[in-house]
Amino acid sequence: MREKPIGEGAEALKGPVGLDIGTSHIIVAQNKGRDINTTKELDAFFTLPTGKFAKQILNQKEIKYYESDDLFYIIGYSAQNFANMFNVNLRRPMNRGVLSSNENEGIRVIEAILKSLIQKPRDFGEILCFGVPGDPIDEPGASVYHESMIKRSIGSMGYTPISLNEGMAIVLSELSEDDFTGIGISMGGGMCNICLSYLSFPVITYSIPMAGDYIDAMVEKAVGEPATKVKAIKEEALDLSKGPKDRVITALHIFYDELIFKLLKSLQRVISSTDKIPKIANPIPIILSGGTAMPNGCVEKFATMLKDVSLPVEISAVRLAEDPLNTTAKGALIMAMTETG
Ligand SMILES: Nc1ncnc2c1ncn2[C@@H]1O[C@H](COP(=O)(O)OP(=O)(O)OP(=O)(O)O)[C@@H](O)[C@H]1O
Ligand SMILES: [Mg+2]
Repeated sequence: MREKPIGEGAEALKGPVGLDIGTSHIIVAQNKGRDINTTKELDAFFTLPTGKFAKQILNQKEIKYYESDDLFYIIGYSAQNFANMFNVNLRRPMNRGVLSSNENEGIRVIEAILKSLIQKPRDFGEILCFGVPGDPIDEPGASVYHESMIKRSIGSMGYTPISLNEGMAIVLSELSEDDFTGIGISMGGGMCNICLSYLSFPVITYSIPMAGDYIDAMVEKAVGEPATKVKAIKEEALDLSKGPKDRVITALHIFYDELIFKLLKSLQRVISSTDKIPKIANPIPIILSGGTAMPNGCVEKFATMLKDVSLPVEISAVRLAEDPLNTTAKGALIMAMTETG
């Protein structure tokens, strides 16, 4: 039996690449004929002690892993299966949108996941554009380390890395018919990213360190169900347009309200306190994307709560992105294609 090096399975696509390195998922977007092809992996890992016998099985089952310091690092969705079997939590290389300070191996795990998703470029120096979070309001420089480390990894794979603010990626992907003027919001796992763009210039970018993971953790605290179970219920059964029926769903409603309230208050505070806001003549749209924006009724809830917030710009509509889980990667691909010219 032969070993299967990480990267061999990646599909042979060529041209510029868009990449979203999120707290929950890593998503790659590339052109495939006239369509955009997206592939994803879970941004997670699980370790097990090495052994020759186990290695044969891992290879046989085409499980993605690498070896280091007598440990197998099982990566991506495969790690999820192992964590379920052992009934322990997955480990994550990232926390709240950036490399986790608690995981020394974080960048190597991300590199291994990237190599399993992206082939080396056919043309050396091909452009790869990746999304980076905006800094939290009171924490300038919070994403500098993360961005530099990811750039190095991508550079070592033979690509020319270009970073793009995650909120701006939403604008590029969704607001072409609005002259790239509006507010793009990515409501993800670790954080919400916000960008106000005027004619494709990111005028305001920032993030708040709460999103889907925060909701899961708070519901766990409130009603005593494990966060993983809460997450599953949230993704499968939550409908924010209907009155809640049980304890978990009621708690989910409460923390969605809180998240949207904090998001709107931050928007009010940041937009009102900046002197950069251009005098925009027409009302501008808000686009919501990311997994946390997906439950039925989320956009409507956001729009209703927006009525109680006074912003110095008028909002024309609140819309859900066409493909909320892949919007950042698609926006990054648009940027990479433009830079490639
Ligand atoms: N259908 C759904 N309903 C509600 N929540 C969902 C749904 N699908 C995914 N989520 C939640 O969305 C979050 C993940 O979203 P996403 O994949 O956009 O995040 P990410 O880009 O990996 O993270 P971040 O941008 O914060 O770094 C998780 O909290 C997940 O539970
Ligand atoms: Mg994201």
